[in-house]
Amino acid sequence: MSQPIPNTPERQSIHGQWSSRWTFILAATGAAVGLGNIWKFPYLTGEHGGSAFVLVYMLCVAALGIPMMMAEVMLGRRGRQSPVNTMQTLAEETGGSQWWQIIGWSGTVAGVLILSYYSVIGGWTIAYVFKSAGGLFHGATAEGAQQLFEDFVSSPWIVFFWHSFFMVMTMVVVARGVKSGLEKAVQFLMPALFVLLLMVMGYSMTTGYFSKSLAFLFTPDFSRLSGTSMLTAMGQAFFSLSLGMGTIMIYGSYVPKGTSIAGTSCAIAGADTAVALIAGMAIFPIVFANGMEPGAGPSLIFQTLPVAFGQMTGGLVFGVLFFVLLLVAAWTSSISLIEPAVTLLIERFAMTRAAASFWCGVLTWLLGLGTIFSFNIWSGTTLFNMTFFGLLDFLTSNLMLPLGGILIAVFAGWIMTQDSSQSELNITNPRGYKAWILLIRFIAPIAVLIVLLHAVGFL
Ligand code: TRP
Repeated sequence: MSQPIPNTPERQSIHGQWSSRWTFILAATGAAVGLGNIWKFPYLTGEHGGSAFVLVYMLCVAALGIPMMMAEVMLGRRGRQSPVNTMQTLAEETGGSQWWQIIGWSGTVAGVLILSYYSVIGGWTIAYVFKSAGGLFHGATAEGAQQLFEDFVSSPWIVFFWHSFFMVMTMVVVARGVKSGLEKAVQFLMPALFVLLLMVMGYSMTTGYFSKSLAFLFTPDFSRLSGTSMLTAMGQAFFSLSLGMGTIMIYGSYVPKGTSIAGTSCAIAGADTAVALIAGMAIFPIVFANGMEPGAGPSLIFQTLPVAFGQMTGGLVFGVLFFVLLLVAAWTSSISLIEPAVTLLIERFAMTRAAASFWCGVLTWLLGLGTIFSFNIWSGTTLFNMTFFGLLDFLTSNLMLPLGGILIAVFAGWIMTQDSSQSELNITNPRGYKAWILLIRFIAPIAVLIVLLHAVGFL
């Protein structure tokens, strides 16, 4: 296991390569920044009391997220194939067991499962672009907005229409491939996302509640920090950075040789965290200015922001901008969720990219029906006290991602020789490499194990 292996010749991905280090950073940032940052991060922060949660979240990104992301990019760039075949090749190369392929399989399945509900929420977002543009939020009260949301999600066929629309948007980009699909999309969408987010934040600064929000987000109050909050913050760090599933591994497989893995991972994690914090700074002033409850939960955006947009001057424009922004963020994430499955079909069944995208899309689209029905005709049908949607979310976020994360850390830290990881990462500072190996061998797997045990109720 610890025998040095000769350096393998550089592989080429049959799926293409990013044009530059910069497009990789854009694409991976696009994958990381999504509903997790703009919808989930604010409501979790609200539920867990603000600043202390934010601090732990940022600590987890720095200490666990960055080394884990480096490991995934490294494995992807070394294997240059779909996560399943990458793990097969790397296991062969290191003399490890073929069982390590489980990382690829579990990630590929998790991606399809996550996308099946992600697309439904993406569909809600499109519908909300039109609702705000149509002036439906004008003068809305809290009850009115809640009613609007409930009426909407309880109409399965309307939601199904928007979910289908979102799936088509996603699969069209994926079918076009690395260079003309993913890359073109993110080059335009990522800068647009930043501009839109800054505009909503600019509005929030005029509400008079901006400094209150800053205090809520950044003045540490450790009395509000429970064990559960710490674990939730860590789980959110992994979800938000798209780790443990193969997204970063497949994007890493398109990275040109010579790109600094440590540098780009820090840039991606930094950008992801910045977007989450800016989203918090954009949303909380609106919440406070309208006397809303920060801990309202997952409904925070869809049920309460329309009230704010409905009452503020220029709310029509800001409402449309906000939901367009959320749609863009969800779109660049959704394409990354299905990429491991699409590349697997291309490699294993010699399918064209278009055909592979079509079949993956159809499967995910049909699975999405379960989530749609969870909010209406199946809302009373539960297993382990969870709806179909709740169960999917629990299975993927709380079980599959942490498990994948542990396996990736163990493979990168223990199975791969230090010679290979050192030459692949090519960190010039020897202390930097030592820090990474310490984090990836011990800290990351143990910390993620704690999250996992917590999720299944053992801790
Ligand atoms: N990180 C994205 C978000 O914050 C979602 C996402 C994309 C994801 N790819 C992933 C989450 C892979 C987990 C694993 O919305």
